[in-house]
Amino acid sequence: MRRGHVQSVTKPLLDVLAGERQAVPPIWLMRQAGRYLPEYRDLRQRTDNFLDLCFSPKLATEVTLQPIRRFGFDAAILFSDILVIPHALGQRVSFTQADGPRLDALGGADGLRKLRYELDHERLAPVYETIGRVKEQLPGNVTLLGFCGAPWTLATYMIAGAGTPDQLPAREFAYRHPDEFKILIDILIEASASYLIRQFEAGVDAVQIFDTWAGVVASDEFARCCIEPCARIAAAVRARIPAAKIIGFPRGAGSKLRRYIAAVPVDAVGLDWTIDLGFAREQLQTQKPIQGNLDPVALLVGGKALDRAVDRILESFAAGPFIFNLGHGVLPDTPIAHVEQLVARVRVST
Ligand code: CP3
Repeated sequence: MRRGHVQSVTKPLLDVLAGERQAVPPIWLMRQAGRYLPEYRDLRQRTDNFLDLCFSPKLATEVTLQPIRRFGFDAAILFSDILVIPHALGQRVSFTQADGPRLDALGGADGLRKLRYELDHERLAPVYETIGRVKEQLPGNVTLLGFCGAPWTLATYMIAGAGTPDQLPAREFAYRHPDEFKILIDILIEASASYLIRQFEAGVDAVQIFDTWAGVVASDEFARCCIEPCARIAAAVRARIPAAKIIGFPRGAGSKLRRYIAAVPVDAVGLDWTIDLGFAREQLQTQKPIQGNLDPVALLVGGKALDRAVDRILESFAAGPFIFNLGHGVLPDTPIAHVEQLVARVRVST
């Protein structure tokens, strides 16, 4: 791989974030570094604890670069996890192979006592070191993305202590204990903003805010849970890094995406696979660059179903500023050949 540092080489993904359409849309995939890659599984087998992988600059750098070497994506996303923030706020976090993350649940209103009110940046130092290492090794035309979880999405895991199908514990907490909920969200806004600022200082080109559970909140609650926290994070980051580029991904927001892009000053918005293509083209892409939104299941299945789904998305979005991505992460059973098929099809598009 060529060494970075070449200032004159442009990054197509950053051009899209600046509002410029690219003839061939830049492409990256959420969870592009993960279990569908044999080289990831190899490395993962040698580490018991997933967080040890996130906090090893050497291994996290290697995993971040794996999908770039294999597929030549236009962006590398820092290998880490959104749950390093609860961890750096003092909550116990672990990952089980079988059923995902486990946290020491905050539970009711007095659970806030388990938290520090400020991020322990010492615990996150290896993440910042990883960013520096990746940057050194990345080709000059590849964008380096940092990320964080949105406060609402983090709160759902922190309150319940695990993933739940409809995020009932967090939704109940928000109604039942509005004052404590506000304190928790405020802690997470502050922590996330300072985490993203550090990521920019360490060298990322842009960041994505993952609001994976935006889709479960009531329409009336959307402002308090999703819009305002993300808007405050974006404002706080820009106060320190005026040129900061930010992608928002409020998964499941549906028609509320219009409210989201009107109120959250993001540079682009990520769309999940359920979003209507005509709605996105006419009502969203006219306002902001968009990213998405191939169904991860179409990528899993491959063949003609994949080609058709890719073509429909390109026909709908390629006339405006657009970043090709999935509507959510790569599924672990996805064949490598299907990812190759996808990249080839997007790159011959124009
Ligand atoms: O390639 C990338 O996208 C970068 C790395 C990344 C991971 N997690 C690695 C990971 C990113 C950006 C995330 C974000 C993340 N983590 C989100 C938001 C986006 C989304 O996927 O919805 C959420 C909700 C989490 C929390 C989380 N981490 C869950 C629910 C799980 C378990 C489910 C699963 O897919 O395994 C994780 C673990 C995790 N994070 C893995 C990876 C590669 C799998 C760990 C393993 O190897 O066993």
